[in-house]
Amino acid sequence: NKLDPIPHPPTKPVVGNMLSLDPNAPIQHMMRLAKELGPIYWLDMMGAPLVVVSGADLVDEISDEKRFDKSVRGSLRRVRAVGGDGLFTAHTNEPNWSKAHNILMTPFGNRAMQSYHPSMLDIAEQLVKKWERMNADDEVDVVHDTTALALDTVGLCGFDYRFNSFYREDYHPFVAALVRSLETIMLTRGLPLEGLWLRNRNRDLAGDVAFMNAMVDEIVAERRKNAAGAEDKKDMLGAMMTGVDRATGEQLDDVNIRYQINTFLIAGHETTSGMLSCAIYALLKHPEVLKKAYEEVDRVLGGDLNVKPTYQQVTQLTYITQILKEALRLWPPAPAYGVAPIKDEVIGAKYKLKKGTFVLVHVLALHRDPSVWGPNPDAFNPENFSREAEAARPVNAWKPFGNGQRACIGRGFAMHESALALGMILQRFKLIDTHRYQMHLKETLTIKPDGFKIKVRPRNDKE
Ligand code: HEM
Repeated sequence: NKLDPIPHPPTKPVVGNMLSLDPNAPIQHMMRLAKELGPIYWLDMMGAPLVVVSGADLVDEISDEKRFDKSVRGSLRRVRAVGGDGLFTAHTNEPNWSKAHNILMTPFGNRAMQSYHPSMLDIAEQLVKKWERMNADDEVDVVHDTTALALDTVGLCGFDYRFNSFYREDYHPFVAALVRSLETIMLTRGLPLEGLWLRNRNRDLAGDVAFMNAMVDEIVAERRKNAAGAEDKKDMLGAMMTGVDRATGEQLDDVNIRYQINTFLIAGHETTSGMLSCAIYALLKHPEVLKKAYEEVDRVLGGDLNVKPTYQQVTQLTYITQILKEALRLWPPAPAYGVAPIKDEVIGAKYKLKKGTFVLVHVLALHRDPSVWGPNPDAFNPENFSREAEAARPVNAWKPFGNGQRACIGRGFAMHESALALGMILQRFKLIDTHRYQMHLKETLTIKPDGFKIKVRPRNDKE
């Protein structure tokens, strides 16, 4: 076989390994396979090889952008139904990728974060207000509320739109359509006759996409009408409507702007909520970490709940940031990403990969590689992200935001928003693990805790 000596599990005729992969939890299944087969192995996806890499040394080689580029295949390619040629689902060589990348660096840069801070604060206040008003027997659905936070924050900072998720039982119709679409996309595996049993879902998908596009197009058109206002608004939409790509002198067209907005909502809500939920889970299970986190929040933000945290204060929440980064290590919300060699390659001095071979970087497994994280890689320890520990570690051992120029453009946004929210939560609440919840990961486009409910009480509550 061309892929020898890369290990691989036994295959079945025609479908190869496709049907033996757990459809509800393929990422966790691949993680178990990595434990059995090692840092690199391949699966036969109905004739097409999928090479799964999780060893830190190999990932380090694969992170060389002169040799490997992002590959938009499998479910990510199907996400193009919603994301089109927006940044996340564009091929690197599509003209709109570099154009949008150049234009969007500014509204995702550090300076822009300062201008989003008031809007982020607005939404974080809605979350803590909701929790403050809970009765002693009310439960918090952590993933639901952090998803509401993340969505509303992207909506407000992105294009001055309020989903008002904290004022409704269900999600906004746009979000419902988005979630349904992503579900259908993830259920689609390109199997023979699959179109038959997915027929109704595919019809809904077409309707949902049309609805989402119409809503976003309307927001863009509205903004164009008040052309004078477009420059004034300091949100991402304003930046997209006025920004010029220095390389080509061109601007983004309205269809591409729509795809970017859809993309921010796809990329920006499940991931951020997954990170926050897992961080809260870890705090419940590690009282000594929680204690240090309370100390930092009390020192940096203070105890007066009427004084709003400033941008500067959030940047000083360094231990909180370490907690978030460690949560991203153990439970990376985007648990894998796809790349392909630009020409025929050899990695690890012996594994031959033909040009274009689909290679999946299995981040969840990479983040528990004992050669980097030591003999007990499953243990939650924010000291892994002390300044010294970070400096001493190989750069490509921690990849929750992907790689190189195709890495997450929203990472600074997600980290600021989350440090602010977690800081405000800890300023106010005791967290109670009423169900002694044990981590159970639900896989969609992302991974996040399934059925994670807690209770919260005010910190000054004597009970
Ligand atoms: C790309 C993770 C938050 C927008 C990515 C990639 C990862 C990732 C792994 C690379 C995907 C690949 O290589 O195929 C995360 C995580 C987040 C987060 C873990 C939160 C903790 C956000 C937010 C936004 C965002 C808040 C926007 C508001 C994007 C975009 C891309 C991207 C536009 C594509 C960048 C490009 O290829 O040019 N993200 N993301 N992400 N993310 Fe995020």
